[in-house]
Amino acid sequence: MAAEALFRPFSCKSLHLKNRIVMAPMTRSFSPGGVPTPDVAGYYRRRAEAEVGLILSEGTGVARPASLNDPNVPNFHGEQSLAGWKQVIDAVHAGGGQMAPQLWHVGSVRNPMTTWVAPPPVDSPSGMSSPGKRFTEPMTDEAIADTLAAFGRAAADAKRLGFDAVEIHGAHGYLIDQFFWGGVNQRSDRYGGATIAERARFGAEVVKSIRSAVGEDFAILLRLSQWKQQDFSVKLAHTPQEMEAWLTPLVEAGTDILHCSQRRFWEPEFEGSELNFAGWARKLTGKPTITVGSVGLTGEFTESLSKGTSSKPASLDNLLHRLEREEFDLVAVGRALLADPQWARKIHEGRNHELSDFSKEALASLS
Ligand SMILES: Cc1cc2nc3c(=O)[nH]c(=O)nc-3n(C[C@H](O)[C@H](O)[C@H](O)COP(=O)(O)O)c2cc1C
Repeated sequence: MAAEALFRPFSCKSLHLKNRIVMAPMTRSFSPGGVPTPDVAGYYRRRAEAEVGLILSEGTGVARPASLNDPNVPNFHGEQSLAGWKQVIDAVHAGGGQMAPQLWHVGSVRNPMTTWVAPPPVDSPSGMSSPGKRFTEPMTDEAIADTLAAFGRAAADAKRLGFDAVEIHGAHGYLIDQFFWGGVNQRSDRYGGATIAERARFGAEVVKSIRSAVGEDFAILLRLSQWKQQDFSVKLAHTPQEMEAWLTPLVEAGTDILHCSQRRFWEPEFEGSELNFAGWARKLTGKPTITVGSVGLTGEFTESLSKGTSSKPASLDNLLHRLEREEFDLVAVGRALLADPQWARKIHEGRNHELSDFSKEALASLS
């Protein structure tokens, strides 16, 4: 099937994309001391030059002491880090692309890959990372207010540096998602509650803080997932009604595009319909959505990282049918673009026989 549907333009507020291909945010840990290097700028520029419509940066930390759990992940605050990011966005624009930083706070998730520990306090709704395992104090009101302000400042800096939009990382069991998840959000104040609508408040306030910092015309993307790295089987929304209760306050707060993270994009979200998460999010909110998860590859990403299983190029037909039917608007591609900067161009030119496998070795350098 021809990939034309992927190469139609798309606009939303400050974003004017030449096609529907989005580079998924991927942590690379090549920014020593939190500062993106010229190699990082070159890595993103190569994807921009080879027809990726929108690049989402690797997760980048907002200004809280423990927003990150790896000293080689970039910050999005501080003079040196922001100067590094300025080089990145200028390189991406020179390559003909557009880019949004993914603003991140890891919450209470620890990183087994490093012995480095961020300065305290650990931020989380109830001092847990997984249900029932409390190891620290819940966030105070002051810490919450400071975190909301930090997201707003980072977004204002992104706009000032020339980025085209911002993405908020509200997925995968990190801070914002910890507030959504009743298993680890046991607060009895306004940030907790028995319903997903109540637990959406913190995420909605992050969006509002960013909206007031960037104005009406700057696009805000929000990445969400049902699954958590702590437990793949968790669902925040068991029915379309619950999903609507979750997403509506986030959209009303100012989200423009919902980035719906699945590990396999073709899996239906609810029984009785083929629609995936991005499909339901679009139908329920009327907002544009991004799908993601094993696009163009045979295996899914958590297994390829944890077990080192390699993935082979796979057909795009199912994805293209769904895009044609307008189930979603944009398509994020992770490992296929990490392994091959030319992936989008090869798809456009029908050079599918030149596509490469993904194996964990691709993580060793910024090619
Ligand atoms: C090395 C690596 C790092 C990742 N880091 C992030 C991240 O910083 N933020 C995020 O939201 N997702 C992250 N992800 C998830 C990807 O954005 C994407 O959702 C996932 O890889 C599925 O897409 P794929 O099957 O096309 O690789 C990461 C994935 C990989 C492989």
